[in-house]
Amino acid sequence: MGWLSRLFGGKEQAERQEREPIDLSVFGYDYHSHMVPGVDDGAPDLEASMEMIDALVSLGYRGAVTTPHIMAGMYPNSPETLRGPFEKLKAAVAERHPAFKLALGAEYFLDHTLLDAVQSDQELLAPGGRLLFELAFAAPPDTALLQEFLFEAQVKGLKPVMAHVERYAYWHNELERFEEWKEQGVILQVNAASLAGAYGPETQEAAVTCIEKGWVGILGTDAHGMRHIDALHASRTHAAVHALAETALNPKLF
Ligand SMILES: [Fe+2]
Repeated sequence: MGWLSRLFGGKEQAERQEREPIDLSVFGYDYHSHMVPGVDDGAPDLEASMEMIDALVSLGYRGAVTTPHIMAGMYPNSPETLRGPFEKLKAAVAERHPAFKLALGAEYFLDHTLLDAVQSDQELLAPGGRLLFELAFAAPPDTALLQEFLFEAQVKGLKPVMAHVERYAYWHNELERFEEWKEQGVILQVNAASLAGAYGPETQEAAVTCIEKGWVGILGTDAHGMRHIDALHASRTHAAVHALAETALNPKLF
């Protein structure tokens, strides 16, 4: 394909993807954000958390499962360390937006610590029985570890939610993997910011393909700050967001 056809192909594709902005209240609830103040690389303080919540409310959201990172070494959080800061946020939200529902989840990094936690009696943050987990971006996970984790989580009655599936660049040429995981009971989540193009065209294309194939269950903000809420706002015109609105689990998250 020459540069000219690529250029026009790209333009046609952009036009094909363009729609009237969707009313995001059809999604209702978010599942994936970093709004608990001061516990990870998300909101640094309560003011920053509330700015994100205010923006979600103004976009029509009625609640959110917020999901601080839990990653051995990097973010040594646990249900015990997160509960205090979360309750502080919840009280502030209840005062300003009494109808807004807020639940504490977590974004677990897949490693042996997580596998141990799932295999033992440790408390896991998984509202609605949905356990959000992420993989490394630099290299694919150990397949045996991933399969064991998925098996053990489901034996425990949990539904594993794979975070931002489109961001694992090492799988961009083998997206059909996601269909297999969906069939195994994994809920696939994509980031609104990816659809808005925030992570580049390849990540955007991967997100679109997974949605068009019908593999994606949840649209998430992955909000660490206002930049992700702005990206959510920008994603409203994207055809894939419109398509996902028809089938997403978001409205059933609470
Ligand atoms: Fe995240």
